[in-house]
Amino acid sequence: MEDYIKSIMKEARVFYPPKSFSNKAHIKNIKEYERLYKQSIKNPEKFWAEQAKQLEWFKKWDTVLRNEKNFFKWFEGGKLNVCYNCLDKNIKSGKKEKIALIWEPESGKGKTYTYGQLLKEVCKFANALKKKGVKKGKVVQIYLAMIPELLISMLACARLGAIHSVVFSGFSADSLKDRILDSKSEFLITSDGSFRNGKVCPIKDNADAAIKACPSIKSIIVVKRTNNKIKMKKNRDYWFHELIENEKDFCKAEHMDSEDPLFILYTSGSTGKPKGVLHTQAGYLLYAQQTFKYIFDIRDDDIYFCTADIGWITGHSYIVYGPLANSATTIMYEGAPMYPKPDRFWNIVDKYKVTIFYTAPTAIRALAKEGDKWPNKSNLSSLRLLGTVGEPINPEAWLWYYKVIGKEKCPIVDTWWQTETGGILITPLPGAIPLKPGSATKPFFGIVADIFKENGSKAKVNEGGYLVIKKPWPGMLRTVWNNPKKYKKTYFEKFNVYLTGDSAKIDEDGYFWIMGRLDDVIKVSGHRMGTAEIESSLVSHKSVAEAAVVPFPHKIKGQAIYAFVILKKGNQKSESLKEELKKHVGKTVGPIAKPDKIQFADDLPKTRSGKIMRRMLKAIAEGSSEFGNVSTLADPEVIKKLQEERIL
Ligand code: WTA
Repeated sequence: MEDYIKSIMKEARVFYPPKSFSNKAHIKNIKEYERLYKQSIKNPEKFWAEQAKQLEWFKKWDTVLRNEKNFFKWFEGGKLNVCYNCLDKNIKSGKKEKIALIWEPESGKGKTYTYGQLLKEVCKFANALKKKGVKKGKVVQIYLAMIPELLISMLACARLGAIHSVVFSGFSADSLKDRILDSKSEFLITSDGSFRNGKVCPIKDNADAAIKACPSIKSIIVVKRTNNKIKMKKNRDYWFHELIENEKDFCKAEHMDSEDPLFILYTSGSTGKPKGVLHTQAGYLLYAQQTFKYIFDIRDDDIYFCTADIGWITGHSYIVYGPLANSATTIMYEGAPMYPKPDRFWNIVDKYKVTIFYTAPTAIRALAKEGDKWPNKSNLSSLRLLGTVGEPINPEAWLWYYKVIGKEKCPIVDTWWQTETGGILITPLPGAIPLKPGSATKPFFGIVADIFKENGSKAKVNEGGYLVIKKPWPGMLRTVWNNPKKYKKTYFEKFNVYLTGDSAKIDEDGYFWIMGRLDDVIKVSGHRMGTAEIESSLVSHKSVAEAAVVPFPHKIKGQAIYAFVILKKGNQKSESLKEELKKHVGKTVGPIAKPDKIQFADDLPKTRSGKIMRRMLKAIAEGSSEFGNVSTLADPEVIKKLQEERIL
């Protein structure tokens, strides 16, 4: 990481927003940002109460914020409906015929929904769900790829006050099972299959396998997408299209309390079991709406394309809720970035005249590697703003994005945030804040971010430390589902303010530089994975006795997975076993979790009390011999052997 920071600091150039951009922007210059920012943090409650007027409430709140020992409640006493705010409210203000959603399937024959049409589809499905027993407070698991029914299902749940829990369709049957077991949902929405890279992924088969161990599931609703053969179990499995066939296209929006749950999204932390991050109604919606408005500087005629999958938080906040709450036009693309060729994203930009494009550094690096000829084949002149999210962006990738995609006229918003934060916390405002490649720049309105040292004191300028958020904000997670203790321990125990898990520093201009995770979370191609999840998958293989997983730097993926594996007695170390183990992880967790490198070991570096010393393994995987303090190492010989046998 130090090298990374050194390298970004070399990129000392500052990029100013073009005048033509700033003139029309919501926030036009740094002074305006600073003035509003100061106001917002002087009295965040006043600030957010003022902003909350932009939502439509069935009943106004009584209190803006209440702190119950670090469990925060926003807008208590207020009543509203998230789906109503995303659809009905826009229709009432004259946007009925405006396109809400553009869906681009892998096959290319796109489909659009106006706000009016989308409301009808959502209502029909909400009515169908109601008949199956879905209502306020029930959890609905959604295991779908990027098809319109995913967004429709989420909004239908929100309309009824049911809690949706989307599971990324690339996750395996086991991962789905774990999430259903934790959320205890009775309903599952999936499809007969999904398209990825022109191939059919059998996600209904995965769902069938998963729910064998999930007695809570009563009904499965299946969207017909690929027409491949699947099993439909009587009185449990229902076709989506049959259920909605005769449903009315109006359904009343439930009046929800501000702090009723909206959704659970599972995310990896430092323990084996993913955490169910809980977001609630009003605060989440307000934060998604406000951040989307100012950070993407949204205007009525924008066409906005975020390439994320809705199975992750970026898709929740910035494909679905943020854009729709701003009556924007949002694009949802079904497939892989390189399908059928590496110009697919640029084709989409050209085809729909996209004005705002939001993606991850890993995609930028992968597409840059394919060469400029791909973007150069498309007309990208409609673009006015670019964004990145998910991992640090290296200056080379930033500059490529800026020059080749943005033609040096589009600001880039490098947005830092997390599943837990609900929305973007540290980011440029594109018309106002000058950019430094590799820096997420400044905190958003109402966000008080800082860097703490181990002892809780403030770090000096340019000194690395723990990134913390010192005041609550409306979009923050409310708890970990079924596990409030974990919420307290993970986020508030160390400093009594919100701990992000990232390290960062602030430079002399007040710019934030994110340095990476401090815990055992790995970002593989921007996807958040826990080392412990991958380790427990490896150990579940019959030939493995012990495993330790660490990240190593990867040119395109940002980080990749390096696994140290100790075999059980009687097993031969072989290349074929390595392949088998990779497949096993792919099957039990999901293809994105497959280790890139596996090194068989006889022993791992441990402390005298038996704890694996991960930072040493990390150094070995990176090929570095800077081990830091080794005085607690039980057997120094172990390191030497591991270094010799390192996989290059
Ligand atoms: C990392 C994704 C550097 C960070 C929205 C964070 C970033 C984790 C950035 C959360 C960025 C996200 N620059 N690092 N712009 N954005 N990260 O929950 O380590 O999937 O803690 O949310 O991604 O990942 P998550």
